[in-house]
Amino acid sequence: MSARILDCRPIGDAIKEEAAAEVAWMLAAGMAAPTLAVVRVGDDPASAVYVGNKVRVSEEIGITSEHHHFAAGIDHGSLLAFIVDLSQRPDVDGILVQLPLPAQINEREILESIDPAKDVDGFHPLNAGRLSQGEPALTPCTPAGVIEILKRSDVPIRGRHAVIVGRSNIVGKPMASLLLKESATVTICHSQTVDLARLTRQADILVAAIGRPAFIDSTHINDGVTVIDVGINKVSDPDAVRSLFPSDQVEKRIAAIQKRGSTLIGDVNQRDAIEKAANFTPVPGGVGLLTVAMLMKNTIRAAQSRRSVLTGRSQTL
Ligand code: GUN
Repeated sequence: MSARILDCRPIGDAIKEEAAAEVAWMLAAGMAAPTLAVVRVGDDPASAVYVGNKVRVSEEIGITSEHHHFAAGIDHGSLLAFIVDLSQRPDVDGILVQLPLPAQINEREILESIDPAKDVDGFHPLNAGRLSQGEPALTPCTPAGVIEILKRSDVPIRGRHAVIVGRSNIVGKPMASLLLKESATVTICHSQTVDLARLTRQADILVAAIGRPAFIDSTHINDGVTVIDVGINKVSDPDAVRSLFPSDQVEKRIAAIQKRGSTLIGDVNQRDAIEKAANFTPVPGGVGLLTVAMLMKNTIRAAQSRRSVLTGRSQTL
């Protein structure tokens, strides 16, 4: 079998178009544009790229964005006071604090200081709790994007066995809640799971979110499964590229290493997934493209709820 590659770019573009139409509708109805405040601490290059994308896409679709950048050495109290102020500002609809934060910052206290109504990452315990109880909530963007990929690619979820590898608060746990909400049967595996491959081979939908490059291989993948690769890892060794990528990608990937020092790889061995799976999301070009699109939807949803205008028209948000 040669897997259908789930091309996530058109799905992400469609969601961004829907979001832009929703903003245009708000403006036409005389409402202020949604406002998103993004907070970044330190100089992690990956965080700078992610935040840059969030700000750029916000502006493309008509969301007003603020980018607040603090030095890596900022003390916890100062950052906390800043977030509390954003939470209290009436003109701010959404707040996103880019993770990871430096060691001197108490990440949990920062995330819990965000007004849950503005928590567009869906990381506040109130939103996490509501999601786990199947109640309406602002939902973490990456797993919400996975659901959109499955639905818009006509992959059946109801009654199917979804196996998630990874138990993070950002992906694994909310992914399980969202799949349960869609009536999947859900198994969560992690680094301590005994005989992982025995469980992953039972999956109809296999979600890999463990942060280990190309860890999920042919031993874990049953024929005909849908494999969703949430991992984003860097590979800088050309020999690793030769062993991990399908032959038609090797040249392009080695060129990327020569140009940029590394190439991106997910948590799934692409060659094995393409050979065995029915559907597969590539890295790059996969789930990552949905994360920012879903952030836009969450920001609009937060803005509309705060303006008390959730209408029948916006229930898809
Ligand atoms: N770092 C990695 N993924 C995310 C995310 O989805 N949100 C935030 N705030 N930080 C991240």
